Amino acid sequence: MKSYDGKKRVLVTGGAGFLGSHLCERLLASGHDVLCVDNFYTGTKDNIAHLLDSPRFELMRHDVTFPLYVEVDEIYNLACPASPVHYQFDPVQTTKTSVHGAINMLGLAKRVKAKILQASTSEVYGDPKVHPQAEDYWGHVNPIGMRSCYDEGKRCAETLFFDYLRQHKLRIKVARIFNTYGPRMHPNDGRVVSNFIMQALKGEPITVYGEGIQTRSFCYVDDLIESLVRLMATSDDFTGPVNVGNPKEFSIRELAERVVALTGSRSKLVFKPLPSDDPMQRQPDITVARRVLEWQPKVELEEGLRKTVAYFQTLMRP
Ligand SMILES: NC(=O)c1ccc[n+]([C@@H]2O[C@H](COP(=O)([O-])OP(=O)(O)OC[C@H]3O[C@@H](n4cnc5c(N)ncnc54)[C@H](O)[C@@H]3O)[C@@H](O)[C@H]2O)c1
Repeated sequence: MKSYDGKKRVLVTGGAGFLGSHLCERLLASGHDVLCVDNFYTGTKDNIAHLLDSPRFELMRHDVTFPLYVEVDEIYNLACPASPVHYQFDPVQTTKTSVHGAINMLGLAKRVKAKILQASTSEVYGDPKVHPQAEDYWGHVNPIGMRSCYDEGKRCAETLFFDYLRQHKLRIKVARIFNTYGPRMHPNDGRVVSNFIMQALKGEPITVYGEGIQTRSFCYVDDLIESLVRLMATSDDFTGPVNVGNPKEFSIRELAERVVALTGSRSKLVFKPLPSDDPMQRQPDITVARRVLEWQPKVELEEGLRKTVAYFQTLMRP
């Protein structure tokens, strides 16, 4: 049965993860029915425990590399480990999740005529030769490196989305998400923000790779979720890909110094060799998102970091 009161049945794959849990929360708050599908590979029940009491929230343990048969109006396909430590742990499974997962969710969307959004990534640009990256840049990706299971898996998923559009006229949306941070990030995921905060809170040395002059842009999770919801609501002729992230650049060193200042830590910065394929610069060109989604990030790094530090502090309490 379709709902006719503006309320939709929305599937969020990877819904128990960092971004997925915030998205489920947001969709519930907007009055929709939410089906959260997750195999808990990197996500946890803790992330969505506060939603379980809602009669409009349903949790299903399922691996998206297997077909799924449910009735929904919209699908947000977020299932995929997102940090190098997690996606490199079982690289074959990572590619499977991106590729088979996309095929299964696109198949589902086709069967039930649902609109489907793919959580793609700035990693599709690889180690970019243009800066900042706009959506028409095809990227510079190593197909056989340690990061390739993720980068190429996500690139293939994008291909599948556009082939389902061309071949089956599916209503698709592709978001290329840039570095996002906030509460419910994994404390040990090896990502720069979580690493720095955890090291600072424990009073351990802060590990900076290279000289720390490589830059990143950091988008706070609430801003990012807003962009995904807006993208899903665009007219059917808008498919993306669209970059979503914060264009404001910070050097890794600057981030480390801010975290130390915010946590009041005595940690010192230590410098280690750069890992292979680590991009030097990463900054989204969000011209399309500004124009089509009428969206841009609002939360300043300082405010976002403060909320994230507060979350990590609660995790460390006995
Ligand atoms: N956080 C970021 O900065 C960022 C940047 C770019 C893209 N993305 C994309 O956004 C999505 C969510 O990322 P996140 O940061 O929340 O990561 P996350 O690891 O917290 O969430 C991913 C979720 O997917 C689940 N999952 C993994 N494999 C699965 C499978 N085979 N079947 C079902 N569930 C599975 C995990 O258990 C987890 O709950 C990912 O697709 C990621 O590639 C995130």
